[in-house]
Amino acid sequence: MRDPATRPIPLVDLKAQYDAIKPEIRAAIDGVLDRSQFINGPEVSDFEGRFAAFCDAGFAVGVGNGTDALTLALKALKVGPGDEVITTANTFIATAEAIVAVGATPVFVDVDPAHFNMTAAGLSAAITPKTRAAIPVHLYGQPAPMAEIMDVAKRRSIKVIEDAAQAHGAARDGKRVGSWGDAATFSFYPSKNLGAYGDAGAVVTNDEDLAAAIRMLRDHGRAHKHLHECVGVNSRLDTLQAAVLGVKLGRVEEWNEARRAVAAKYDAALGKFPWLNLPAQAPGGKHVYHLYVIQSDRREGLRRHLSDSGIGVGIHYPVPLHLQPAFRTLGHGAGDFPVSERLAGSILSLPMYPEISEKQLRRVVQTIAAFNP
Ligand SMILES: Cc1ncc(COP(=O)(O)O)c(C=O)c1O
Repeated sequence: MRDPATRPIPLVDLKAQYDAIKPEIRAAIDGVLDRSQFINGPEVSDFEGRFAAFCDAGFAVGVGNGTDALTLALKALKVGPGDEVITTANTFIATAEAIVAVGATPVFVDVDPAHFNMTAAGLSAAITPKTRAAIPVHLYGQPAPMAEIMDVAKRRSIKVIEDAAQAHGAARDGKRVGSWGDAATFSFYPSKNLGAYGDAGAVVTNDEDLAAAIRMLRDHGRAHKHLHECVGVNSRLDTLQAAVLGVKLGRVEEWNEARRAVAAKYDAALGKFPWLNLPAQAPGGKHVYHLYVIQSDRREGLRRHLSDSGIGVGIHYPVPLHLQPAFRTLGHGAGDFPVSERLAGSILSLPMYPEISEKQLRRVVQTIAAFNP
């Protein structure tokens, strides 16, 4: 067995989390297997109710993944061909994919250089008569400035879908993400702050009609077993995944606090390196550190040094969406969104998970300290 002092430190350690909750997970999975109601089992509605309450929202509708959550929310809000939807250039591609999936056009805006999120001013400037909706992303677990964004959206009569895939439990001005927009979408991809053991997602809303529309769309447009009110899709939340999520939902507050404590330790230890920029918490924001993202002009050298030393690092994301080949038809070029482009070249995600030990953290910091920029 490898000496713990030289054992690689992963970016995320899902096995450590599983080991900590194994008996409860096994019991929940056994319960599903024993009942054998694999589709729309009682675990699904139980989780939906508890997750809505966790978000301080009225309704949650479980779906197959976070991308479908966005697509179905847009569809239920009747966004479609000819419509524009505004989102940020530095997010995961799924945010924009969903806009294209409903036949609408993504319109990118640049982000706040300190907190990496959409700004109300950026949103306001991008609105045209074709704009139907905006999708602010709570990137890395940092909540976007929702009060200001909702204010613009209300004045300009556009809908808001929060992409909260990375921000379960985050809050802004004391109000949970998921409770601000017309709808909010979550991914439960395994590495998320609340992660399933496969693909899963949810849409959260305070609008009962919207929740009902999404519930219908996710299940073949069904009103009843053999009555299809509209053409939908098959994107239900699996009963097995709901059972896993039900167990993990009880721990997510504690895990988010552990993530915040890890971030505070990184902040304290890494502040002395003038060649690093550390993540800033937005005023009034409760960041839940899905990722701890530093910036450095020497990013490539630092990334190689950490990888070569067995420290797992990531880049979220190295190519902003406006420069992705998939969006070449939008006609963007380098220089269009300078903050997003600068971030793409300088950001680095460090190991971040609730179970990371003091020793592991110390090793990450010592390895960074040994880098000669
Ligand atoms: C910001 C953002 N939006 C949407 C998604 C899509 O979620 P999923 O992978 O569950 O489809 C992700 C997940 O990686 C994400 O990070």
